[in-house]
Amino acid sequence: MPEDFVSRLARFGPDIHSGLSDLYCENLDAIYARVIALAQSTHAARSKALKQRDADQPADWFQSEKAIGYVAYADRFAGNLKGVKKKIPYLKALGVTYLHLMPLLNPRPGENDGGYAVMDFRSIAPSLGSMRDLASLATALHSNNISLTIDLVLNHVAMEHEWAVRAREGDPIYRDYFYVYPDREVPDQFEQSLPEVFPDFAPGNFTWDEDLNGWLWTTFNSYQWDMNWANPQVLLEFLDIIGFLGNQGVDCLRLDAIAFLWKRLGTSSQNQSEVHSITQVLRAFTKIVAPSMIFQAEAIVGPSDVGAYLGEGRFTGKVSDIAYHNSLMVQIWSAFAARDARLMSVALNRFAELPPHTAWTTYLRCHDDIGWAIDDSDADSLGWSGFGHRSFLADYYSGIFHGSPSRGVVFQENPATGDRRISGSAASLAGIESALEISDPLRRQQLVDSAIDRISCGYAIVFGFGGLPLIYMGDEWGLLNDYTYTERPLESPDNRWIHRPFMPDFEALNAEHRKIAQELSARITRLSVARAALPQLHASQKSVVLTTSHIAVFMVVREGERGSLLQVYNVSPDPATISGHEFPWKPQSIDLITGNSVELGDQIHIPAFGHWWLLPR
Ligand code: GLC
Repeated sequence: MPEDFVSRLARFGPDIHSGLSDLYCENLDAIYARVIALAQSTHAARSKALKQRDADQPADWFQSEKAIGYVAYADRFAGNLKGVKKKIPYLKALGVTYLHLMPLLNPRPGENDGGYAVMDFRSIAPSLGSMRDLASLATALHSNNISLTIDLVLNHVAMEHEWAVRAREGDPIYRDYFYVYPDREVPDQFEQSLPEVFPDFAPGNFTWDEDLNGWLWTTFNSYQWDMNWANPQVLLEFLDIIGFLGNQGVDCLRLDAIAFLWKRLGTSSQNQSEVHSITQVLRAFTKIVAPSMIFQAEAIVGPSDVGAYLGEGRFTGKVSDIAYHNSLMVQIWSAFAARDARLMSVALNRFAELPPHTAWTTYLRCHDDIGWAIDDSDADSLGWSGFGHRSFLADYYSGIFHGSPSRGVVFQENPATGDRRISGSAASLAGIESALEISDPLRRQQLVDSAIDRISCGYAIVFGFGGLPLIYMGDEWGLLNDYTYTERPLESPDNRWIHRPFMPDFEALNAEHRKIAQELSARITRLSVARAALPQLHASQKSVVLTTSHIAVFMVVREGERGSLLQVYNVSPDPATISGHEFPWKPQSIDLITGNSVELGDQIHIPAFGHWWLLPR
């Protein structure tokens, strides 16, 4: 055994052991021994090139100011995995160093929740290519200094997965991989405190299965069977899968729906502390066998729960490395609709500081709907009603609020809670689609320009606020809602497909849209270039939100050795004026995003959707 493996085992073995002891009371030593045996075989199978990468990759690669992410469906972006390889120059031109390819492991045929119902974790969806193609893509990305992220769904498998098939065939070992109840007694007890993720098309959290003769836990769709992580065998299976995927050259696993892994009666069965113990075991295993690999937590949970996914208390430094900043995304859209950044300032100021070796992933749009995660007490602090503001946001982004330029659609309306989540592409939510419906050319151009400014302002916050920024495929060209999903029977029931467009050939865009695409991609590229030159934007640098006298002005300071960076944003379509005294120090009058000079007198006029990054004088 190579020395490095031995020392890593000595360092991370105890984390595995203590995580296991949080989870299981019996046969601990035997389980531990199996995990270590698996670590040995996984490490032995790791290629020389990847071991070299483990040695070379700086520990903070995902925190770097140079880190810029891109998220895409391989087929919609480039046809298949081989096509993605050909798009590397395109990604490089945008400044991308991190590529998240949406679910690509072999899903069940037919409806599969956008690939999140996986039938086989060791093969690729045939339409996208093969595992060999994935490994070869990873190599090509690595030689272009781009890391590869893929999804790993830990909470559930497709009902066609071999484990589920065997369970249905009556194998008790595999039946134990799932939560199966003979009657409604226990499910009904659980249901009292469980929320519904898809109240519309998959109400409830349990599904009756004839073959199993029981009620199965199915948090999401009925064909997605929740795994029983209280069974150590499930953990061992997933460790094996993680090792296998790491050895294909995957750099980051996006741990899908991780909040749901542990179930506890009387609770929402989300964010249980055992989830963090599980992650601790998975991570320690990874640090032994594939040390450069990291985890991204997909925990779309409240502000007080999300921090734990990046490590709190005894889990500090032991769980995921990066996590979605859902609240930032929600607050940006909320601020745009309200033309008011105060709620955003309040909400973001409430986040605890992150452990030093972790980062948010920041984003304006992703493949999922937007749930209006506005905290009631944050709203209260401004004298707003949380419920009222959430309703306003749903009205605004579905375009029914008078004067709203948005063309979103309501996803999973829940009459019981009044919840209305929203689907829609960034461009359609920001107003490009509605602007293009105007016939008066002058007005149309003004509205297009304003929507472009709104998107740029949103992306500037995403690139500046703190963390690894993600560009969601199509945003850089202002791609509108894709209504053709309604023509595809597998997609039509789920309107999240409206914002998962196909990347067209640039030439296929009409002349007007080509201009929009050119403008937006130029602006996003400018943000990448500016960001990469600012060490203040390394994720380890603190973000401090400042209070301003103008409700639409949002200011953030990022510290740094070369002087702190002041970021000034106007979230409103009208210009805003603040006093120069509101700046924490006198800045240089050059905006580092554009390189343009800005006028900084006693009164500072910030244009509509203005966004400046300023260094001290
Ligand atoms: C995650 C995915 C979402 C999916 C769900 C169930 O939240 O982002 O698209 O529906 O998990 O797998």
